[in-house]
Amino acid sequence: MIAETFAGVALTGTGSAVPDMVITNDDLTQVVQTSDEWIKSRTGIGARRLLRNEESLTSLAVRAGKQALSSAGLAATNIDLILLATSTADDRFGNAGRIQHELGAKWAVAFDLTAACSGFVFGLVTAAQFIRTGTYRNILLIGADVLSRWVDWSDRRTCVLFGDGAGAIVIQAHHEDRLLGFELRSDGSGHHHLNIACPSLQRQLTNDINVGQGTITPITMNGQEVYKFAVRSVPEVIDKALYRSGVSANELDWLLLHQANQRILDAVALRLGVPSEKVISNLENYGNTSAASIGLALDEWVRQGHIQPDHLIAASGFGAGLSWGAVVFRWGT
Ligand code: ACO
Repeated sequence: MIAETFAGVALTGTGSAVPDMVITNDDLTQVVQTSDEWIKSRTGIGARRLLRNEESLTSLAVRAGKQALSSAGLAATNIDLILLATSTADDRFGNAGRIQHELGAKWAVAFDLTAACSGFVFGLVTAAQFIRTGTYRNILLIGADVLSRWVDWSDRRTCVLFGDGAGAIVIQAHHEDRLLGFELRSDGSGHHHLNIACPSLQRQLTNDINVGQGTITPITMNGQEVYKFAVRSVPEVIDKALYRSGVSANELDWLLLHQANQRILDAVALRLGVPSEKVISNLENYGNTSAASIGLALDEWVRQGHIQPDHLIAASGFGAGLSWGAVVFRWGT
């Protein structure tokens, strides 16, 4: 569908979905040598949701997508584009097409976008470009990850951090531009700090022909390096996005960071001078849900009535790649 003119961007609906199975810090003491006290004090996480084997990323993403469409009052057949931000697709060829089919969004083009825990912010900015050029009017962005399938359950340094979930938003063309500014960054020199690597093993096909056979390894992470990177880099991109938006940190109603670690949230808020009551945090219940976390938290805060139309929000994602970015927007139309 082609819009008539260049258009502004508005965020008009939210949705989310989490699995019903809960694993608490105490449950994890049966899996690795850890304690509720260590996990809570170092991360702020108390529990996370885990997907059952018979469930899929697709089913979570579809639930979140349906909710977002219904909250925006939009039929699936009116969606022009579906973006799925994920690092844990059910299919390495991509997952968005299956979600398009299950939603019944038959006119939408759909594709996956992978930028680890920055995926939601990268996806939101990507969606905005399609709207601003007048190409599409109605876009569904879903951030979904099931990192529980890719953690090493014998590695206490990582397995306690992650949980599964999906968060979704509807982004629409609007006469007023409500997405005020953004900044996206990548630094591949730090790619080795956080990986779900896909090494290939040598396989001999004939006497003369050797090829590589793909494999996938569980998450490896240098937690301290990722921590330092986040605390240093996230305030910088938020500052830049605020500058581009022509607003300052003290005008923000909400700071919405990727839900990785409460200590990171606190340190970033302190550097920006944002008081703790304006910092959205639900990681105590869900852990780090990667590309889902910003959409999941946004949906909870909208549904609970904390976020009101016109509220000014700075959202920032950061993680593997290394990748990080921030976007400043006013909620609603
Ligand atoms: N339970 C008990 N002890 C533990 C655990 C655990 N679950 N994990 C580590 N420890 C131990 C370590 O073995 C170490 O013991 P030692 O000193 O005897 O060797 C001690 O605790 C301290 O370990 P550190 O790694 O120094 O702990 P730190 O305070 O740095 O906290 C953490 C670790 C929570 C991982 C922190 O570094 C962090 O949050 N980093 C950022 C991670 C992150 O946000 N990653 C996701 C990015 S998003 C994405 O793209 C996926």
